[in-house]
Order: sequence, then C-alpha cells, then structure tokens
Amino acid sequence: MKYDEMVPAHIRALGPYVPGKPLRQAEEETGIKCTKMASNENPFGPSPRALEAMEHALREVHLYPENGAPELAKKIAENEGVTPDHILVTGGSTPCLDMVGRTLLAPGSNAITSERSFIVYPIVTRAAGATLKLVPTKDNGFDLDGVLNAIDTDTRVIFLANPNNPTGTMFTAQELDAFLDKVPDHVVAVIDEAYYDFAKYLAERRGVEYSHSVRYVNEGRKVIVMRTFSKTHGLAGVRVGFGIGDPVLMNYMARVRTAFQTTTVGEAGALAALHDDDHLQRTVVNNAKGAEFLEHGLRELGVHVTPTWANFVFFEVDDNAPGISQALEHSGVIVRPLKGWGIPQGLRVTIGKPEQNQNFLSALRRVLEKEPVR
Ligand SMILES: Cc1ncc(COP(=O)(O)O)c(C=O)c1O
Repeated sequence: MKYDEMVPAHIRALGPYVPGKPLRQAEEETGIKCTKMASNENPFGPSPRALEAMEHALREVHLYPENGAPELAKKIAENEGVTPDHILVTGGSTPCLDMVGRTLLAPGSNAITSERSFIVYPIVTRAAGATLKLVPTKDNGFDLDGVLNAIDTDTRVIFLANPNNPTGTMFTAQELDAFLDKVPDHVVAVIDEAYYDFAKYLAERRGVEYSHSVRYVNEGRKVIVMRTFSKTHGLAGVRVGFGIGDPVLMNYMARVRTAFQTTTVGEAGALAALHDDDHLQRTVVNNAKGAEFLEHGLRELGVHVTPTWANFVFFEVDDNAPGISQALEHSGVIVRPLKGWGIPQGLRVTIGKPEQNQNFLSALRRVLEKEPVR
C-alpha cells in the first residue's frame, strides 16, 4: 500500500508550516551577513539571568526533566493569581494550540478563527479532523461580531489572536468582555496572547485597557489564555509556553501532551526570565519606540501600514511582495512575505534595535526605488 493511501485524507490535505527563513540559510543564499526580522524574536536575545540559569541547568541534561515543569507552573500560577492546576506548561504555545485541537476537536466539529490570522490555527484544527470556519477581517483584524455569527451547534473552539499575527491588530478588554458574554456554553474561546507584554505596554501608553483575560478563567468562563516565553523573554529556541484554564480541561489537555515536552534548560531559563524585569522593560520600551519609527518611515515610503500592538509591523505593497522580500534579503534584511498566509501583497517586519530598523527602512527605500509599488 502506498503512503498516499495509508495517510488519512484530512492529514494529506494539510499544508506545511513555513517558518521565517533561518538566518544561516539566508546568509548562505545571499553570501552576505543578514539580520533576521522575520519571526518576531527578541532583538536583545534572552535575559542575562536566563542565560546564566540555562548554563547552570546544562549540567543536568543527562536527567529527564520533571514532567510538566511543575516549578515553573507554580511560579506562573503565583504571578497570575490562580492555583497551579490552572496552568499547563508546554513546549512553546504552538504545542498548546495543538493540544486544544486534539482535546476538543474531532471530525464533525468545527473551530472558528479570522482570515489573516495565525497560520497554526488551521493546521491544528484540520489535523484533528475538524472543519475550520474563517471569518473575513474587519480593518485587517478580528471581526468579533462576524465570529459570533459563525458559531453553530458543532462549534467547539474559537481561536482569537490578540494581538493578531500577522496584522498586529488588537481588540480591547471591553470588546472581549462584550464578545464573551454572547459566546454559548458549548464553545471554548482560546485567547492567544503571545504578544502580551508588548500590547500591555503599548495600550497603557495609548490609554486603553488591553486585557484582563485571567479574570475570565477565575470567573469560570470557558476560555484558555495562552502565553509564551518566545517573544518578550527571548526564549524562542528553548520552547516554553503555557495555557491558563479550568483545571478539568487542563487535566484533559495534559493527557495528550507528549511526555517530557519541556526541557530542564527551558524551564530554568523561563523561571529566571520571570525575575528579570529590567530585560522585559528594555524590550517593550525599545519596541514601542521602534513601532513608531517604522510605522512613520513606512508611511513616508508610501506603503499601506496597519498600526501595530505587537513587536512587528504589517504593511502592504503589491503582488510582488515576495520579490520585494527577496530583494531585501540581498540587502541583508530578512522579512516575512505573507503569500502563504493568503496575503500576496503583505509583508511583516519584526521590530528590531534602532540601527536594525533604520537599515531595514533604507534597504526598502532602495528596493522600492528600483521597483516602485504599482
Ligand atoms: C499569535 C501567536 N500565537 C502563538 C505563537 C507561538 O509561539 P511559540 O510556539 O513560540 O510559543 C506565535 C508565534 O509567532 C504567534 O504569533
């Protein structure tokens, strides 16, 4: 029997996840030194405290880690004002999303999300054999009323990215309050807050309330809040994320988590990162300044920019966005073309350090001079 016949149809239909181009590959292809501004990583790297803790933890890597990273779960629970059984630590938040799919979705049920949202939601939904309903965007972000209208009796999960990746849009705490009041009891809302610290800081400066999502968990609402150490904490390479939700649901999800998913090194790094407010502050302050600088600079270049609440800026050129991205790479800057996300004219650039942002804008200016946006 051929593998094509052995693999179930819903798995055969899956597309691959295409990550941002790795730095090494881009440098090999272009023959020049590149800066990666394609995967929303922290330009300052991990906190020095996390580095030290991870170096120390390396001495213990001959031992299996403690399953479920209990020390980290306890610390997160303490910070968030919940008990540890509300916390599910996973190898980044992507596996946590996958566990939502495998726990709550099955053939016959459906999940809802928005067009132009995180590319992992369709994968985890379809991998579970369920159907995905994609709601058109409103102003490049989630249309929460549209999502409500899409709910039917077979809906089990709603994936909400707040802020949204790749468009950087956000809905406020009050908008989410009003939305959740109308979500029926047979549906779980996943509130994916991968860019939590960036959005919180930007929202405080802009005078709006970003999120009080953990309050919903404490109120017993059907939500799972998801966070990650990959972004502000700069630990994308050691894979630590977590979900906050009802202990009964977290317990079911833990059953589909592969054993020893998080590592000794990752847990040590994450724990230490939670104690490094200086690094976090430096990261969010740099990001807010970079957001302003890039949005302004991009508008000056005549491209359409969506205001960001995260650590990246989404902008639209024309259908030659992949060509522009390639030309940028030859100037040493890797950005993310969004054709694979169904946005052929879209590009996403991660906010970097001031000199990286400046380099990117100069490179884009040169590229657009040669190849103006049609
Ligand atoms: C909206 C959103 N959710 C989740 C993630 C997953 O991050 P990780 O698996 O590194 O925790 C990302 C990463 O880019 C994201 O943009």
